[in-house]
Amino acid sequence: MKTLGIDIGSRNTKIVIFDHDANQIAFRDWISTEVSAEDSVNKLLSHAEKQISLDEISSTCVTGYGRKLYKKADKIRSEISCHAKACHFLYPNTRTVIDIGGQDSKIIALNEDGSVNDFVMNDKCAAGTGRFLEMTAIKLECELSELSRLASMAENHIHLNSTCVVFAESEIIGLLASGHKVPDIARAINMSIARRIYTQMSSIELKEAVIFTGGVAQGTDLVNCLANLLKTQILVPFDPEITGALGAALYAL
Ligand SMILES: Nc1ncnc2c1ncn2[C@@H]1O[C@H](COP(=O)(O)OP(=O)(O)OP(=O)(O)O)[C@@H](O)[C@H]1O
Ligand SMILES: [Mg+2]
Repeated sequence: MKTLGIDIGSRNTKIVIFDHDANQIAFRDWISTEVSAEDSVNKLLSHAEKQISLDEISSTCVTGYGRKLYKKADKIRSEISCHAKACHFLYPNTRTVIDIGGQDSKIIALNEDGSVNDFVMNDKCAAGTGRFLEMTAIKLECELSELSRLASMAENHIHLNSTCVVFAESEIIGLLASGHKVPDIARAINMSIARRIYTQMSSIELKEAVIFTGGVAQGTDLVNCLANLLKTQILVPFDPEITGALGAALYAL
């Protein structure tokens, strides 16, 4: 038996088809979220159809920022629930989940049995999110996927003063103009995001295991910056961006 999980994020739409007999993911994919949520999902399903039969899918659950825009799912769940569900499945000892996507950041505290105990969410400000990294990549004229490697080569400490993406953009331009190196600036951005998450976490009691999900978790340098600040080990799932869709696929059963 297979179920379909859909995560319609503010930036990317992800799907996971979970095979419950084999207890593993049968298919996963993502694309940029389009104006029509249904078009995004249909495109992903057409990719999936080339590899597996969609007739075997018994039920569907949708989550994410755009979840109410997709009307064909059997169930609908919050991102908080889905990230918690998937992390508990992947790491049964999960007690804290940090999810950073393109537009918001969420910290979720789990009970021992995997249920959600508490959460905090920042969806008001882009500074602690992927948007900040996207702006940085444009200003530093590199690929987003290159930022982490560049930051890991930093040699000098720079403290970024701006806590707002708009002001940070001007600050980056100023740093480049005054001769600061790209790796040092990339690290300063990661440290700035890590400090924001650290502050956001202050109302949640940090318990291990700590799992980092969402597209931003692909940036290993940021993961390391945050782990150092929190003085804890942080685990990142194999493909952190599809975690919410995996949780939805598990809920769909
Ligand atoms: N290699 C990378 N390193 C760091 N960040 C990345 C990388 N690739 C993508 N990202 C970030 O991940 C974001 C997408 O992540 P994700 O799919 O989790 O967001 P989303 O679910 O659409 O957003 P939200 O949860 O805020 O609605 C991109 O917008 C980008 O900022
Ligand atoms: Mg998301």
